[in-house]
Amino acid sequence: MRKKFVAGNWKMNMTPTEAGVLIDKLLVGCNQDNVDVAFLVPSIDIFVAKEKLSNTKIAYGAENFYFEDKGAFTGEISADMLLDMGCKYVIIGHSERRDIFKEDNVLINKKLKKALEKNIIPILCVGESLVTREANKTLEFIKGQIVSAFSGINENDAKKTVVAYEPIWAIGTGKTATSDEAEEVCKFIRNEIKSLYSIETADTIRILYGGSVNGGNAKELFQKEDIDGGLVGGSSLKDDFLKIVNFINS
Ligand code: PGA
Repeated sequence: MRKKFVAGNWKMNMTPTEAGVLIDKLLVGCNQDNVDVAFLVPSIDIFVAKEKLSNTKIAYGAENFYFEDKGAFTGEISADMLLDMGCKYVIIGHSERRDIFKEDNVLINKKLKKALEKNIIPILCVGESLVTREANKTLEFIKGQIVSAFSGINENDAKKTVVAYEPIWAIGTGKTATSDEAEEVCKFIRNEIKSLYSIETADTIRILYGGSVNGGNAKELFQKEDIDGGLVGGSSLKDDFLKIVNFINS
């Protein structure tokens, strides 16, 4: 049985001062055994997350990093820097990084390899645009993103990776994919992992859904066979996150 996993993606929100207040507010409700919880925060907030979360069951991590070990990459942050701060996870290939910062599949593959080499668990995001969905090309598109991201990654490393299916049209729009639409793609991703590796790896890997997850829709989404939890943006910044984490009781 895969344990459910709820990760908050704070995006470019929360100053370090605000981060401390938010973590204090969410800490008790998120500190539990039956669901894995992580806060993925802006790099400058990682110090606060470390301070507040080190002795809890809540993990924390980063929203981005660069694949080179060190050097002349002004403004970038390395995997070793994240490790030194106790980061367990890092988001890779979020659609906002792909679209706004022009990260392509080649760069995303390099980042995935580096995170795995350094034992930071990557949360690899994939997802189609509305145009792709309306052209009935969703599955083909997702397959391309998965095959390219996992290129050259061995089975043992693949097993540690978390995949987040985030349809771009559902991100920050309030327009959630229906649980059936989300399940269809998450199941497809699991099957792709099976073709690339094995049934065992496909059964092990956690696949999250992201895109306007909230306290009202989390339970229905997370109860689907192939949806192992959520990557949560907007709702991770408020009390609603507690409802998502405690979806079983809703
Ligand atoms: P959202 O964002 O929950 O605000 O739609 C999800 C994400 O981008 O990870």
